[in-house]
Amino acid sequence: MKNRLHDISDELNEISLKDLNQSVSEYEKKYNVTIAIQPISSNNDEFNGALRDSLNQKKVTLNKFWVTEDTIHRVKEGKKVSKIYDQGKLKSSFLVDFIEKDQHFILIGVSIVYLSEAVKIVNQFTISIMILLILILISMVWIWSKKITDPLKELKDISKEIAKLDFRKVDIHTNDEIEELAESINEMSEKLQVAHEDLNERNANLKRFISDITHELKTPLALIKAYSVGIQDGIDDGTYVETILKQTDQINHLIDELLALSRIERETLHIQEVDFIHLVNRCIQNYEIELNRSDITIHLDQNDIQQVFVEADLGQMERVINNLLSNAIKYTENNKIFISYKESEKEYLFHIENNTKFNNPERLQNVWEPFYVMEASRNKNMSGTGLGLAIVRSILNRHHLRHEVSLINGKIRFTIHFSKKYKEKPHL
Ligand SMILES: Nc1ncnc2c1ncn2[C@@H]1O[C@H](COP(=O)(O)OP(=O)(O)OP(=O)(O)O)[C@@H](O)[C@H]1O
Ligand SMILES: [Mg+2]
Repeated sequence: MKNRLHDISDELNEISLKDLNQSVSEYEKKYNVTIAIQPISSNNDEFNGALRDSLNQKKVTLNKFWVTEDTIHRVKEGKKVSKIYDQGKLKSSFLVDFIEKDQHFILIGVSIVYLSEAVKIVNQFTISIMILLILILISMVWIWSKKITDPLKELKDISKEIAKLDFRKVDIHTNDEIEELAESINEMSEKLQVAHEDLNERNANLKRFISDITHELKTPLALIKAYSVGIQDGIDDGTYVETILKQTDQINHLIDELLALSRIERETLHIQEVDFIHLVNRCIQNYEIELNRSDITIHLDQNDIQQVFVEADLGQMERVINNLLSNAIKYTENNKIFISYKESEKEYLFHIENNTKFNNPERLQNVWEPFYVMEASRNKNMSGTGLGLAIVRSILNRHHLRHEVSLINGKIRFTIHFSKKYKEKPHL
């Protein structure tokens, strides 16, 4: 600052007093300094007063300012004198250069704020800002780590619980990859739960199935044993061997059906386009002799529907129709069977129905279960192994064909739904 002031005063020294007087304010503006010009007077007090007044006019109020006689003397000798006036409480200093020109005393001054004060303030400010920043940083790190670690901990806990087959779900909304991970874990948990329940159900079914098989086998075996002992004891009335053969046939039939059921689950499907109506008609023809013998009539109502196409395994579809037909023939109460086709916007419906004495809708769904035989038919002693409808269900499920059984006005009705998407395809 001092050097700059010296340079400025050197430059101003080159300018004539007249020029300087004329354009004081311009020079002040140019160099950003205060310039005061005062004729040197013999009275030092007056001189200082006048100088201070002219400074005051320029809005420079100094509480400590005094030009000593010695200074005036040295300036008069043509020397350039520099002074610094500490303004004490104002926390600033007034740095001046005095030069003399044509009996005039020229003051070039600049006010400088205490640097140490400024530095102190800046330092304090910096330190406070730094502390604040560090605090903000620490709290942000804490918040972020909490935001990440807490959900991760929750995910770890949930994974452990899933491992223990407790299929819970997490509720994490972090709007980031952790939330996506939580959603995937939830989805996994849900699927695992479904799979687990399905497995449990299959296990229970399998157990029941095995116990049913055992039971179904035990009855004819016990009979075979009893009749064999009868023959051994010589009490055979001539019918014993026939009974034994009948029971053996029954066991054979049961085993055949069981094998068929298990094969259906594993067998690869040979899918082709099948005209269901055509297939049903062919199956009915095969039963013609039996129908005539039992004096059973089939009432067929195609409702103007000519073809119903389905992508299916022909052999398995035939099995479905034969099982439904043979049941209807076996269990009809009035020697009538009704087969009809209906059409809705999206699908075709196939109905096969016959009169029945069975009137317990709650137990109706049991007909799909293996070995289930309704009381009414058991009494009549005409039921078979009870596997026919289980096979039907298994085949239809494999083909994703919706099906159901219902009781309507004393009739039992089996329905199969066919999607219409093959409607336009040609007959194979
Ligand atoms: N059309 C029907 N009318 C009346 N009852 C039926 C009919 N279809 C099935 N049922 C009842 O459902 C039971 C189960 O039928 P399903 O075809 O599975 O076995 P099943 O006919 O007894 O023996 P299988 O078919 O193995 O020779 C039957 O025993 C019968 O009681
Ligand atoms: Mg049957």
